[in-house]
Amino acid sequence: MVAYKSKVVERIRLPSRERRAAALEEAGYNAFNLAADDVFVDLLTDSGTGAMSDDQWAALFRGDEAYAGSSSFDQLTSAVADVMGFERLVPTHQGRGAENVLYGALLSEGDVALNNTHFDTTRAHVSNQGAEPVDCPIAGAHDPETDEPFKGNFSLERARAVVDEVGAERVPLVIQTVTNNSTAGQPVSVENTRRVRAFADEIDATFVIDACRFAENAYFVTRREDEFADATVADAAREQLGYADALVMSGKKDGLVNVGGFVATDDGALFERCKQRAILYEGFPTYGGMAGRDVAAMAVGLREAVEESYITDRIEQVRELGAMLEAVGLPVYEPVGGHAVYIDAGATFPDIPADEFPGQALVCELYREGGVRGVELGSFAFPETDRPELVRLAVPRRTYHREHFDHVAETAEAVLEKRHEVAGLEIVSNPAVPELRHFTASLEPVSAERAAAADGGSE
Ligand code: F0G
Repeated sequence: MVAYKSKVVERIRLPSRERRAAALEEAGYNAFNLAADDVFVDLLTDSGTGAMSDDQWAALFRGDEAYAGSSSFDQLTSAVADVMGFERLVPTHQGRGAENVLYGALLSEGDVALNNTHFDTTRAHVSNQGAEPVDCPIAGAHDPETDEPFKGNFSLERARAVVDEVGAERVPLVIQTVTNNSTAGQPVSVENTRRVRAFADEIDATFVIDACRFAENAYFVTRREDEFADATVADAAREQLGYADALVMSGKKDGLVNVGGFVATDDGALFERCKQRAILYEGFPTYGGMAGRDVAAMAVGLREAVEESYITDRIEQVRELGAMLEAVGLPVYEPVGGHAVYIDAGATFPDIPADEFPGQALVCELYREGGVRGVELGSFAFPETDRPELVRLAVPRRTYHREHFDHVAETAEAVLEKRHEVAGLEIVSNPAVPELRHFTASLEPVSAERAAAADGGSE
């Protein structure tokens, strides 16, 4: 059931078909290069793109901009203690700032970090410390069709195999990402979190939860894990997070703010190390790279994120978009995750081979047909992995309505109608850092000659 009404609005417009075609070409067929003004429904990310509540806007005005000892920091400390159960925190400018602070304190050259699935920035920060990020998703996590309740879980079997191979002394860090963004926003059960806690104890590793979408995860726990059938989302969240030694948080997700993040921990020694790194990279530890007003807004947002009415509306909205896209015939990853609908672009465009990026072709066609922006998470973003060709349509929090989703579904239907005419793409300019190529590379439609050659010259 809808949980709010609008008080401030932002005008949007659908550019003409000609403008969309030109914008796509100007952007080098890369949706990251599109101007937001050229986008009608923007589902690029749920990160920092949501609408704040009136209470959060009021908190902005009361933000305390003192360099040290800001009262906004005290409010955030108290919100983190109440909502997440941790007493000490180091604020950072956003989630990756928290990753830099925490993983820099925990990892050294030659170490191995285990994670159900490393998000891109997590992987990059682990590598940046000279350590090796190893994913431990469960079997079937990348299968878009199996309908299991906790496809985001951490595989202890895989983790044990890694430890057997490299030795426990090389694995000082075990991370659990809730929800599992890189596995279609799938949730993690509390049962799995407990097991990972016990495993980390066994190998004497620090156990960190990447808590970006902790409230969304807790919602699924209350709906899918019998033990929590009568629990509130707030209670389930506290229980799950309480198993960790430390949290890394991007406030841009379930902090319900446009910018901000933090590290939280009750480990005094780790806290001191993080504080020192935060002073170097972020700012003094009572503001850490945020304005006081943003700290104040996040303190309010964290409490709102676990309100039953908010979180139920949020998850149901994402599920509704998934159902609408499925109804027009798009192959949607099942079950629909917490923050986004993921589409199997390989199945959408069976005629486009992986090296012509069917996911990127789907992103481009959704924009061309309806000014809808999504993001590719297949062989363009993750070269040389065996992931499925997924496209993510992420839903900003408290921002879009049923009418926007009607438009997205109509757009998807129009794309499906011409699915056999859509060309694949090839990269024409490749940036220097291959892991980050999908943010800036330019592409163009595969030429008729190449398509014909790939077809065995049958044209
Ligand atoms: N961890 C996870 C699981 C994330 O999804 C993100 C960001 C981060 C860490 C980094 O946080 O952006 O505040 O620095 N995910 C965004 C996305 C960018 O679109 O999924 P950040």
